[in-house]
Amino acid sequence: MSKRRLMMLGPPGAGKGTQAKRIATEKSIPHISTGDMLREARRKGTEMGKEAARYMDAGQLVPDEVVIGIVRDRLDEDDASQGFILDGFPRTRAQAEALQQMGIELDAVLNIVVSDEAVIGRLGGRISCPSCGAVYHEMFNPPATPDVCDACGYQGLIKRDDDQPAAIKKRLEGYHAQTAPLIAFYQEIGALVAIDGEQSPEEVHDAIAEVIG
Ligand code: AP5
Repeated sequence: MSKRRLMMLGPPGAGKGTQAKRIATEKSIPHISTGDMLREARRKGTEMGKEAARYMDAGQLVPDEVVIGIVRDRLDEDDASQGFILDGFPRTRAQAEALQQMGIELDAVLNIVVSDEAVIGRLGGRISCPSCGAVYHEMFNPPATPDVCDACGYQGLIKRDDDQPAAIKKRLEGYHAQTAPLIAFYQEIGALVAIDGEQSPEEVHDAIAEVIG
């Protein structure tokens, strides 16, 4: 049976966003990315966005209560009632427990396995479209025309503020300390599936598609 309540787990730069966007389109389910929601709040200049930006630029996690609140509100929206793909949430034990308390049962937790070395190479070359959010890599996945988004034609692709060497190092440390323990948490529940993230984006997609149907 097709799985529609999905979650992406994995280190920063594993390719969670790249894969989640495509799966969301193919399955017509919302892509719920806490990173994208926090960046949007920051762009709009809300109080929450300003507070979150301080943590994000330093490569630290935003406090649990802030992130849990925005995910709870988002999952309450009508379009999430028939499925969703969570990207970047939960990231701590407290967030995973909060998700359970919301009564959310996941059909599959897709753990994208990528080494720290690969993460550093990927995040150092990531560029994205500030208009539509499409993600590229200067070497591994460049847009057809340099600096122009394939998806929407916007010119002026940008690097993320937190893709600086010091912040990448902090994010990786945070991942190993706070998020990697969730692998065992979801293994116990029986929802975890490991996906080799060090293949081409197409091969990673096919491995995910095979699992979720
Ligand atoms: P978030 O936006 O979630 O960032 P992240 O988890 O660090 O993940 P990334 O977006 O960096 O990477 P990705 O795995 O999506 O990889 P991508 O597809 O872009 O969070 C940002 C910040 O927000 C956090 O640090 C924190 O402060 C805060 N935050 C968010 N959620 C939170 C939460 N739940 N709790 C607390 N704080 C939270 O790919 C990366 C690059 O690699 C791209 O250039 C891509 O083109 C390339 N690439 C992708 N796949 C491949 C491949 N197979 N081969 C080669 N290159 C590839």
